[in-house]
Amino acid sequence: MATTGARVEGRPQNLPADHPVVRWVNEVAALTTPDAVQWCDGSQAEYDRLCQLLVDAGTFIRLNEKLRPNSFLARSDPSDVARVEDRTFICSEKEEDAGPTNNWRDPRDMRATLTGLFKGSMRGRTMYVIPFSMGPVGSPIGRLGIEITDSPYVVVNMRIMTRMGRAALDEIVRTGDFVPAIHSVGKPLAPGEEDVAWPCDPETKYIVHYPETREIWSFGSGYGGNALLGKKCYALRIASVIARDEGWLAEHMMIIKVTAPDGRVKHMAGAFPSACGKTNLAMLEPTIPGWKVETIGDDICWMKFGSDGRLYAINPEAGFFGVAPGTGMATNANAVRTLYANCIYTNCGLTDDGDVWWEGLTGEPPAHLIDWTGKDWAPGSDRPAAHANARFTAPASQDPAIAPNWEDPAGVPIDAIMFGGRRTSVVPLVREGFDWEHGVFLGSIMSSEMTAAAFGTIGKLRFDPFAMLPFCGYNMADYWAHWLDIGRRQGARLPRIYLVNWFRKNAEGKFMWPGFGENSRVIEWIFGRCSGEDDAVETPIGLLPAPGALDTRGLKIAAADLEALLSVDPAAWRQETAAIEEHYAKFGSKLPAGLAARLEQMKKAIAAA
Ligand code: GTP
Ligand code: SPV
Ligand code: MN
Repeated sequence: MATTGARVEGRPQNLPADHPVVRWVNEVAALTTPDAVQWCDGSQAEYDRLCQLLVDAGTFIRLNEKLRPNSFLARSDPSDVARVEDRTFICSEKEEDAGPTNNWRDPRDMRATLTGLFKGSMRGRTMYVIPFSMGPVGSPIGRLGIEITDSPYVVVNMRIMTRMGRAALDEIVRTGDFVPAIHSVGKPLAPGEEDVAWPCDPETKYIVHYPETREIWSFGSGYGGNALLGKKCYALRIASVIARDEGWLAEHMMIIKVTAPDGRVKHMAGAFPSACGKTNLAMLEPTIPGWKVETIGDDICWMKFGSDGRLYAINPEAGFFGVAPGTGMATNANAVRTLYANCIYTNCGLTDDGDVWWEGLTGEPPAHLIDWTGKDWAPGSDRPAAHANARFTAPASQDPAIAPNWEDPAGVPIDAIMFGGRRTSVVPLVREGFDWEHGVFLGSIMSSEMTAAAFGTIGKLRFDPFAMLPFCGYNMADYWAHWLDIGRRQGARLPRIYLVNWFRKNAEGKFMWPGFGENSRVIEWIFGRCSGEDDAVETPIGLLPAPGALDTRGLKIAAADLEALLSVDPAAWRQETAAIEEHYAKFGSKLPAGLAARLEQMKKAIAAA
């Protein structure tokens, strides 16, 4: 057994020194040489103590207790503000198993690189051991993990985002099954060296996944999906591989419960790329009378077949790590209400009365505040008060729209799946797939303009199949084949599949569709379709709402805009098809034949239109 000089605190009694978990923790400590090892129990007392430690270290600013009780603001290093897709790696044994859309490195080379980087990387710091459950502890759809990190900021965020602590550890000891995830901010401290408020490695970052051995190693970043390893690294990249092997689905989807005026209930899941509206849709307040939407989850969805052949979904998370800018009473009132207390804010503005602010929170900005970089800010400044990817970490239980059954360990049966991207042109407001295979085709050809959630070029149009481009832990073409396999399962009662687009713009550059609460009109049409009620018309690209089938009563929308939102322009679609052919060509012989055939059919139908 590896030994270290580190002080060990909080190791539970039921874990003998030779337990595999303890041995693994000791090995990591021997490599990273922290001053202390702290086993986290997930208690409120531990959370409060770590928040105070972060305040004392200058990482956290405690917000005004009257305005935002028990809430904190952190400002990250300006080099560490979003996911780093170009530094994210899928290290499968074979390069083709990572596929053309992932960065691949030989696992042996990567292990050598990381061993070098992690050697002594926690010097002068405390190493925290975080047992966690993705999904309610003990759920047959949930899974377990342990994150090791030298960042107390990560610990307190993980406590909101996952079921973390003693119950998860007991389950890990009982089952022996967990995904190990190792994280270091990559800033060891020399004896006597003073720490900075946001330690990270501004130059060297590695977000690494070994799909075969189901391990995660993350170095150099303290931010969001780079560092809270239960989220993108585990619940999407590693879980997508596990799901392929075990016949289920791990998806970048929100989940909602929809209740019609007559009391009928349907559950829907929706995949939209980062910062493209999942949280908004998950908390939607319908504008059409009598309808109710409740939140199950806002970012990740794990679905397994039930014995009745339906797909049952859980939200594996316990909190929201939501985009702050653009979140206000007019756009997402339930999110604003969720944030009343007990939240962590990262890279938001700080008002003079000790509250947070970001663009879009209120119509009128405060006359003065401190911006996310710590500088004075006033309205009219050429810089935003909050970073475009500023986020809140909030307990899901505080959402007033949370569904009573959101923590049902058995999950909820999914009736409809939506895909949607940010497309200012070409793609209509909503269409339905002809069947499961065509729905998979729609997911595979979706594209979206990039947002500030990842480093890259904001606004750049790219294919983002199933909103999983940055999150699929294996070859994207094999992932499509897996979705097609799901549809062939004996006795499956499959959801219908839709592609939506809230982001069409007209010649004046204005959004044609009002969006937000008005998206309930599209939800209503989908609900009706799933009940065999509403009408659709067949087009070359899918089934569109029949004239009058979409309720547009009371909407202030120009007739020309509505026409554009609900029609297919053959010339634009000929160009779109050419881009899809290029996109598909990247996957070579791995492209499932069924999808290639669907593209040919669509081309023919468009040519004939
Ligand atoms: P991640 O947490 O990054 O995975 O993203 P998300 O999909 O949960 O993103 P979120 O819901 O926070 O997206 C926020 C952005 O989408 C903001 O810029 C919103 O203004 C915009 N948005 C959401 N819904 C709509 C809509 O119906 N219409 C328009 N025009 N914008 C919308
Ligand atoms: C996303 O980028 O899709 C997120 C935020 O949900 S993060 O957890 O930082 O990846
Ligand atoms: Mn996301």
